[in-house]
Amino acid sequence: MKRSIVISSFLIHLSCFLSIHGISSANDTINTTQIIRDGDTIISPAESFELGFFRPGNSTNYYLGIWYKNVTVRTPIWVANRENPVLNIASAALELISGGRLLLRDESTNATIWSSNTSRTAHHPFAQLLDSGNLVIREADDDRPENYLWQSFDYPTNTFLQAMDMGWNLITGRERYISSWKTEENPSPGDFSFRLDITGYPQVVINRGSTVLHRLGPWNGMRFSGTPSVRRNPTFTAGLFMNSTVVYYREDSLDRSVVSRFTLSQSGVGQRLTWVDRSQEWVVYYNLPADICDTYRLCGAHGSCNIGNSPACGCLDRFVPRDEEGWVRSDWSGGCVRRTPLDCPNDVFLGYSGIKMPDSRFTWFNESLNLEECRSACLRNCTCTAYSNLDIRGEGSGCLHWFGDLIDIRLLSGEEQVIYIRMAASELDSNGKKGKTVVIIAVLTSLGVVVLLVLCLVLFIWRRKKIGQKLTEEGGRKESPEEDLELPIYDLSTVTKATNNFSTSNKLGEGGFGPVYKGILDDGKEIAVKRLSQTSMQGIDQFKNEVICIAKLQHRNLVKLLGCCIEGVEKMLIYEYMPNKSLDLFLFDEAKSKELDWPKRFHIINGIARGLMYLHQDSRLRIIHRDLKVSNILLDSEMNPKISDFGMARSFGGNETEANTNRVVGTYGYMSPEYAVDGLFSLKSDVYSFGVLVLEIVSGRRNRGFHHRDHHHNLLGHAWILYKEGRSLELVDNNIIVDSIYVSELLRLIHVALLCVQQSPEDRPSMSSVVLMLGSDGVLPKAKQPGFFAERNVFGTENTTSTVVTSSSNEFTITLLEAR
Ligand SMILES: *[C@@H]1O[C@H](CO)[C@@H](O)[C@H](O)[C@H]1NC(C)=O
Ligand SMILES: *[C@@H]1O[C@H](CO)[C@@H](O)[C@H](O)[C@H]1NC(C)=O
Ligand SMILES: *[C@@H]1O[C@H](CO)[C@@H](O)[C@H](O)[C@H]1NC(C)=O
Ligand SMILES: *[C@@H]1O[C@H](CO)[C@@H](O)[C@H](O)[C@H]1NC(C)=O
Ligand SMILES: *[C@@H]1O[C@H](CO)[C@@H](O)[C@H](O)[C@H]1NC(C)=O
Ligand SMILES: *[C@@H]1O[C@H](CO)[C@@H](O)[C@H](O)[C@H]1NC(C)=O
Ligand SMILES: *[C@@H]1O[C@H](CO)[C@@H](O)[C@H](O)[C@H]1NC(C)=O
Ligand SMILES: *[C@@H]1O[C@H](CO)[C@@H](O)[C@H](O)[C@H]1NC(C)=O
Ligand SMILES: *[C@@H]1O[C@H](CO)[C@@H](O)[C@H](O)[C@H]1NC(C)=O
Repeated sequence: MKRSIVISSFLIHLSCFLSIHGISSANDTINTTQIIRDGDTIISPAESFELGFFRPGNSTNYYLGIWYKNVTVRTPIWVANRENPVLNIASAALELISGGRLLLRDESTNATIWSSNTSRTAHHPFAQLLDSGNLVIREADDDRPENYLWQSFDYPTNTFLQAMDMGWNLITGRERYISSWKTEENPSPGDFSFRLDITGYPQVVINRGSTVLHRLGPWNGMRFSGTPSVRRNPTFTAGLFMNSTVVYYREDSLDRSVVSRFTLSQSGVGQRLTWVDRSQEWVVYYNLPADICDTYRLCGAHGSCNIGNSPACGCLDRFVPRDEEGWVRSDWSGGCVRRTPLDCPNDVFLGYSGIKMPDSRFTWFNESLNLEECRSACLRNCTCTAYSNLDIRGEGSGCLHWFGDLIDIRLLSGEEQVIYIRMAASELDSNGKKGKTVVIIAVLTSLGVVVLLVLCLVLFIWRRKKIGQKLTEEGGRKESPEEDLELPIYDLSTVTKATNNFSTSNKLGEGGFGPVYKGILDDGKEIAVKRLSQTSMQGIDQFKNEVICIAKLQHRNLVKLLGCCIEGVEKMLIYEYMPNKSLDLFLFDEAKSKELDWPKRFHIINGIARGLMYLHQDSRLRIIHRDLKVSNILLDSEMNPKISDFGMARSFGGNETEANTNRVVGTYGYMSPEYAVDGLFSLKSDVYSFGVLVLEIVSGRRNRGFHHRDHHHNLLGHAWILYKEGRSLELVDNNIIVDSIYVSELLRLIHVALLCVQQSPEDRPSMSSVVLMLGSDGVLPKAKQPGFFAERNVFGTENTTSTVVTSSSNEFTITLLEAR
């Protein structure tokens, strides 16, 4: 029944199955002899975008639009006749008329529904849909962008795409901006706009009519102040371009396989979304507004909004409420004033960082001044209240002056730009430190880091001793790295028989690389069979990867591979069967979650931590799992957790600690910011996923799809707010009976989870420290703001039914579900 093969030959065998996809050609142009009617479409050369007629939602009206060709959820990115729907689709016709205008008319009445306009005429006009999503009209023999007669990118609707310019032509006064749809079924311009405000130094605003609702701070050389910090970004570059004739913001794609857009929803929420092929959904990276602190000037002048506080409004350091009584009544509109009045020209400047830069509408800037020149110029002019540099990448590059009150500030850890605010000289003396406060701030910050480092080192050394003991206790197996890896082979006939010929009643679930079946061998042993589907290309890689990884791993908290089966086109992995299936089936099920009392959950969390620690440092491969989530935690008959699904795992060399990938795989909601955004993964990205998992286990709620009536944060954000307010116990699942003997354990666990999900990977503990922290009562460092805490699934805010779908379709690798 069983034979053995050496893994390497098995893999060579596998690679023979890789084949190459052909590329089909498409019609990407309209010439003057063609007429486009309902059902006809134009497709861009690489098949990124498609143009044709569509109906939004259940509307009976038709529109001419452009949408993503490859995205299965019809997502229009541009609409031609926004305000004038096609009422009778049968007689609608789009043609390119001589001179070079696109004309959409109703052939029965001859009425023009929409037309493009141009200031020139072309001899041989030609319309083409480009792979950027831009529809252009040009001379047949001239494809230079500056010579286009017309382009749809000049008339954006609710979507900002890469290669599109958002901003101003200062000569003509023409502005390109994004405007919301009226409703989900009506693309005509709604009340909201997303635009580049160039009243002062450029910043981005969301307006309702002409009223500013939300704001991103001024451009800082890398991004708009207040957007999540991105260290390295392999998917697109972003820039603000300014000269005497134009000011615009633009992003350019570096990786065409990543489908990403920025859309202003009909309710006025700006969202950056990325299409995830494997889960077939748009995933929200970032929202404006993310929470109440993004409400424009919520806390008044010199106020500072801190989402972790209740109430959120406070004053900047060294400022006091202007109207104490109003402040008590939660009326913050009066804002704050300096506790010590200014005495120009004898003032000084104090540096503030970790905040979104204030409204830059009333500012002055000069790109060639350095920071010192900037300071002295500001000091000389008593109306100048603050200054900063323009570009945080360099040293003192550029100069920005604010005049008057500083408005719309929120705390945001990770914002490294420093604003120097004019203060009375005595504010310096009151600290007894004459001179550079910023230096003091900087020194303090790095001191914090040093303290943390020392702490980590201590933990590390202590852990080394402890772990050694633990492993010899747990181990009982010997691993000699050089030996040839042998994997038992099962006959196809054996597996076919065991799974009742792969009958649907034996099917446990469906996943990334094929279905999973339950089987019973002749000797009564239960197995789970993961069958590689023959059409899955990605599957072969994942299959290979899983074999390489898991065949060499042995730990009681990792699922055990019993063998494999390859015959002809069939490729299968055979695992031990887990009678209790996966953790999510317990955790997110109202009835079954009651079975998971706190001791069981704690046992599960500990097991996962140990399994992960083994992967990270004690196995001979040193493995990053990359797709840790509740549905990948299987439970045996005794509710012992087993980490499964190594399809995306990566092995690490001895000294490597991080790596970069252009293909970000994994599950949103569990991905660390540096991995999801920069493609940078490390042991610490697994630690992040572990933290999310712990919070889910404690709360019984999913991170993604999480909703709370008071804010728009996800579960991480919610946990963090509660933690900061000392209310962490409120996070605990109602199904857990919180006996007082568990309280300190619960609080500690939540604290450790928050340490694991901190924004910066360097701040997160290693898994061995985590194991240590879980097993001891030592003092824990204070948790900093989590990464991605502001992410939420906004689809849910407009359509609550889709929330459920989204959060479950989010699980796109194999889940061992019991078939009904
Ligand atoms: C695309 O071109 C082919 C061949 O030139 C033609 O048969 C087909 O009808 C065209 N399709 C459209 C949508 O114009
Ligand atoms: C216009 O396009 C159609 C289909 O691609 C083609 O058959 C026809 O020859 C073109 N006409 C001109 C004038 O280029
Ligand atoms: C769209 O799908 C086609 C065929 O599957 C593929 O060749 C092409 O690269 C995809 N384009 C994008 C932008 O993903
Ligand atoms: C469209 O109609 C279907 C069936 O009546 C309904 O379930 C769905 O929610 C509607 N969609 C929208 C966007 O209104
Ligand atoms: C529609 O208008 C075109 C040009 O404007 C004209 O040639 C044609 O005769 C008109 N057809 C009808 C039915 O009015
Ligand atoms: C085209 O139409 C738009 C909106 O109707 C108008 O603002 C613009 O000036 C026109 N451009 C030309 C070149 O006529
Ligand atoms: C400003 O930039 C635009 C686009 O990058 C360019 O076309 C234009 O010539 C520039 N103008 C000046 C004065 O440099
Ligand atoms: C910026 O400062 C430099 C150096 O002082 C000066 O030459 C230049 O004219 C200034 N530019 C503007 C726009 O004020
Ligand atoms: C101070 O700055 C303001 C705003 O730029 C300017 O109008 C004013 O002339 C300046 N005053 C002095 C004394 O430079």
